[in-house]
Amino acid sequence: MEIIILATPAVVARTAADVIEQQVRRGPTVLGLATGSTPLHTYLELIERHREDGLSFSQTQAFLLDEYVGLPTAHPQSYHSVIRAEFTGKVDFRPGSVHGLNGMADNAEAEASEYESHILAAGGVDIQILGIGTDGHLGFNEPMSSLSSRTRIKTLTHQTRQDNARFFTHVDEVPNHVLTQGLGTIREARHLLLLATGNAKAEAVAAAVEGPVAAICPASALQLHPHVSVLVDEAAASQLAHREYYSDTYGRKPAWQGL
Ligand code: F6R
Repeated sequence: MEIIILATPAVVARTAADVIEQQVRRGPTVLGLATGSTPLHTYLELIERHREDGLSFSQTQAFLLDEYVGLPTAHPQSYHSVIRAEFTGKVDFRPGSVHGLNGMADNAEAEASEYESHILAAGGVDIQILGIGTDGHLGFNEPMSSLSSRTRIKTLTHQTRQDNARFFTHVDEVPNHVLTQGLGTIREARHLLLLATGNAKAEAVAAAVEGPVAAICPASALQLHPHVSVLVDEAAASQLAHREYYSDTYGRKPAWQGL
């Protein structure tokens, strides 16, 4: 795991966009996309590179991490709608190349297992963009999720519903249930890119990165993956015990190594 402490959220976004751009320019790519606020700056950066520098997503497929249960695809807060409005609808993904879970599926288990098959058939995820919840969730794998879990239905914690209430008119409108890729599913992506910014994430980042690998902190599952880049700003890094070590190592890293 590589922990990279960057000055501001804007530098976090540029660094993440650099990694994604390199991969996308290399050829056909499968991206795993997170929603929520944290990756928005990265998506804006990618949209700008598409418009200014000809970065094309026409050879890229995308799979969303999760979806609210009970929101129709057309609902403005469904993750289908959000990702289209914030990113994929503003660049040149081909029609049908952005995939998400159907939160209205009658049979959630069948939906989940079809989604897993679909990811496999696409060749697996090259780069998975991740945010982290204040309770340490990854995707919507809430505390005590199995570190080997697969895509399935989960119940959101009160904390996550409170955190996400800002996207709805009232916390009671935040769905109780979600479909989410499991931690085992996420760990199959070839490169995991965790983005975290702001003080509110500092405790969760420290637990995930420096704490024990434990289901109480689902993001600690990252420690089991061979290729993880954790991009954090100073505020999100503020509770890391070994900040100086991470900064020193990154500062002396040979440029050719990349992330
Ligand atoms: C969203 C997702 C969640 C968010 C997390 C952080 O698709 O999977 O794990 O990444 O809740 O959300 P923000 O970035 O809004 O703080």
